[in-house]
Amino acid sequence: MTLLTKHMASVKASPTMAVSQAAKALIAQGVDVADLALGEPDFDTPRHIIEAAYQAALSGDTRYTATAGAPATKAAVIGKFARENGLVFESNEIIVANGAKQVIFNALMTTLEQGGEVILAAPYFVSYTDITLLLGGVPVIVECGLSSRFKLTPEALEAAITPKSKWVLLNMPGNPSGAVYSKSELQALGAVLARHPQVLILSDEIYEHIIFDGREFVSFGQACPELRERTLIVNGVSKAYAMTGWRIGYGAGPAELINGMTTVQSQSTTGACTIAQAAAVAALTGPQQGVTRFCEAFEKRRNLVVEAFSKIDGLNLDAPDGAFYAYIECGAYIGKTTPSGDKIENDTDFTHFLLAEARVAAVPGSAYGLSPFFRLSTATSEDVLTAAIERIGSAVARLT
Ligand SMILES: Cc1ncc(COP(=O)(O)O)c(C=O)c1O
Repeated sequence: MTLLTKHMASVKASPTMAVSQAAKALIAQGVDVADLALGEPDFDTPRHIIEAAYQAALSGDTRYTATAGAPATKAAVIGKFARENGLVFESNEIIVANGAKQVIFNALMTTLEQGGEVILAAPYFVSYTDITLLLGGVPVIVECGLSSRFKLTPEALEAAITPKSKWVLLNMPGNPSGAVYSKSELQALGAVLARHPQVLILSDEIYEHIIFDGREFVSFGQACPELRERTLIVNGVSKAYAMTGWRIGYGAGPAELINGMTTVQSQSTTGACTIAQAAAVAALTGPQQGVTRFCEAFEKRRNLVVEAFSKIDGLNLDAPDGAFYAYIECGAYIGKTTPSGDKIENDTDFTHFLLAEARVAAVPGSAYGLSPFFRLSTATSEDVLTAAIERIGSAVARLT
């Protein structure tokens, strides 16, 4: 007998957290471990944002807001979409939630019937599969490897669509791959989706501002306005403004969907934290220099990591175009034996080896649906990254 629902049997806690906890246990024993598992900016939230939260609390802004977000927060989100993405939304097309993750959860909870299919381009953000499974949906995983630079192609999308398809989830820049879609790539996907009116599109754009080499970010909403009535754009302040702990995300989509999501939210968290919403307003409407500074730092680290891995045999890194991860192919070391005599059977074994021998915490590609790879987060200092990659290089050289 189990106390849990049958769906819980297939849902797992975040593998990223599991790796990070293993690293923390070693650190607690005094071992010098580089924790490159977690995905959050290592910068402080800019001061003017913290001040805004403080002032809001002092001035009595401490009660429930409207479930879908306070008028000021919605206005800031509407302003952001107009200013940065050239997209015009009305207030009833916006929802503010406790992080982008709750927006995604609300959307699937509102729309997914048992057995409804959700198309995921692997490597994908780990929560996409587990939220789908938790709600009784079926993840349809399309492997998008190095040959398509981790991007979903129109042909692969077409092949994955069935009459049961409910959603396709896109993410750009991608976690863990850093993949960025151009306008024409999005339009080619849009042309496929135009032929399948049963499919809703969720475009997770949370890494929008962490994009490199002067690339222009194009929102799915900008590229495919004709699909607006079935597109949900998901974004938030966590990554762009170093605000992961404030828990504010938002979604923009058709009023009917947003209305359903608001009902779901009203019966779960009621709404997002009032004080954090005031902080998000300051983030979205205030000075944006912090965003540029963070992005420059991430690009510098990306360059450092690409350069460092180019010197390690058998570890293959395609330079990410955005986000703050490196997704590294490690197939050359699968089947090898560690100095302690263990065989590396898969990328999970490989990351265990990295933790034990290189003292680097990394997440295996299996967590993201595409093996054999591992993910490193670059949200740490250049010194830590340099030392960690040196240790990885010496460790793999000891594999036979
Ligand atoms: C692709 C992607 N979407 C959503 C989230 C969740 O963001 P939030 O902190 O706003 O819930 C993350 C966080 O790691 C992410 O990588």
